[in-house]
Amino acid sequence: MAKLWGGRFEAGLDKKTEAFGASITFDQKMARQDLKGSLAHVTMLASTGILTDQEAEEIKAGIRKVEAKYEAGQIEFKIENEDIHMNMETYLHTEIGSVAGKLHTARSRNDQVSTDMHLWIKDTLVETQDKLQNLREVLVALASDHVETIMPGYTHLQHAQPISFGHHIMAYYSMLTRDAERFAFNMKHADISPLGAAALAGTTFPIDRKETAALMGFSDLYVNSIDAVSDRDFILEFLSNASILMMHLSRFCEEIILWCSHEYQFVTLSDAFSTGSSIMPQKKNPDMAELIRGKSGRVYGNLFGLLTVMKSLPLAYNKDLQEDKEGMFDTAETILTSLDVMSGMLATMTVNTSVMAESTEKDFSNATELADYLAAKGLPFRKAHEIVGEMVLECSKAGHYLQDVPLTRYQEVSELIEADIYDTLNSRTAVARRTSFGGTGFDQVKMQIDLAKETLKNESSVSSN
Ligand code: ARG
Repeated sequence: MAKLWGGRFEAGLDKKTEAFGASITFDQKMARQDLKGSLAHVTMLASTGILTDQEAEEIKAGIRKVEAKYEAGQIEFKIENEDIHMNMETYLHTEIGSVAGKLHTARSRNDQVSTDMHLWIKDTLVETQDKLQNLREVLVALASDHVETIMPGYTHLQHAQPISFGHHIMAYYSMLTRDAERFAFNMKHADISPLGAAALAGTTFPIDRKETAALMGFSDLYVNSIDAVSDRDFILEFLSNASILMMHLSRFCEEIILWCSHEYQFVTLSDAFSTGSSIMPQKKNPDMAELIRGKSGRVYGNLFGLLTVMKSLPLAYNKDLQEDKEGMFDTAETILTSLDVMSGMLATMTVNTSVMAESTEKDFSNATELADYLAAKGLPFRKAHEIVGEMVLECSKAGHYLQDVPLTRYQEVSELIEADIYDTLNSRTAVARRTSFGGTGFDQVKMQIDLAKETLKNESSVSSN
């Protein structure tokens, strides 16, 4: 069959060039969205009197047949038909004959492709939120089990102060909750219908853009037809939100990889989320965590790819915009599977609580406790800091820790130090006493968990409405 745009051409397209220009190999992922848009469009063409009811009914019946064939896997997409829009229209023509040619009245592939992408991103955002919520629930459950599990808190990857493992996990919960908020905002810009902008300038036909928007489930419509066909911000927002999400997952994965190492042994991953080595029989590798960490690279790449495509692009549609899709599909697949794998890996991970706690007993992570103890008794904090620094140096040289220093020695250093210092230096006490709002004290961690449970409960009651 001749090209749908073939009228002004005398010669056919060079074969290699045809394949180069085609997007059907990837934009077929938007088949359902394309059919949904066409159904809404033809319904409106009838209600505005642009097509007769009879014509519209024939076209609708045809679209439903194409849809059924697509769902049954009976549609063969063809490079000659370039993209999803023209492949579908060609199939429609095969089903119902020349009346199919009326579907494209008052429409362009420019508003059509943008419509399909808005619909596709909307569906993907729902799926993303779902999986993100699941992971956040896994984190809250993990944190709830480990409010009183003590671990070293790090700065510069050096033992800093003892913390609750639950607190550490809830930091990731907070990060992922901001991700969910960003994806929710992304929905605002995805939920706008471009359909009816036509090529770029609108149309002379008396279309009803509100009707098509409502039929497709959009809550808003673009107010400028040029913007409608040129805008890809909603995809850039998705890619950028996805990049931040992957950055979060990758930080977490990096920690898990460290925690699984022989040097830490803080956690043990379940066999279902680990792999072995083909040469070293003892190996159990955290491959999935490494892969998620690595996949953050391709998601950033997709963001930069599209930002670069969009840079300096004149209004309105340019074929460059066809390059907006593969990165979007790849990003969606990457984040959705990463979220699933991450949830499974964390839900089945064993936390070696005693190893974690013991590692805070053979270190100087209680040095701040001693300084705070002196400061609370009236010594200027800077002076206290200096005294404790000297004690740390003395202990390091002697090969022991602050909790091993005898009281007599402490009292030579400062008469403010009494026998209760040993309880103060205990890492569990150190954690429990950090009761400032948002601190690692057990009650503060429980407070965060309660808030998170409340947030998650409200979110699921909103999404089930
Ligand atoms: N396949 C094209 C794309 O993905 C659809 C829009 C084509 N529009 C055009 N005027 N060539 O961007």
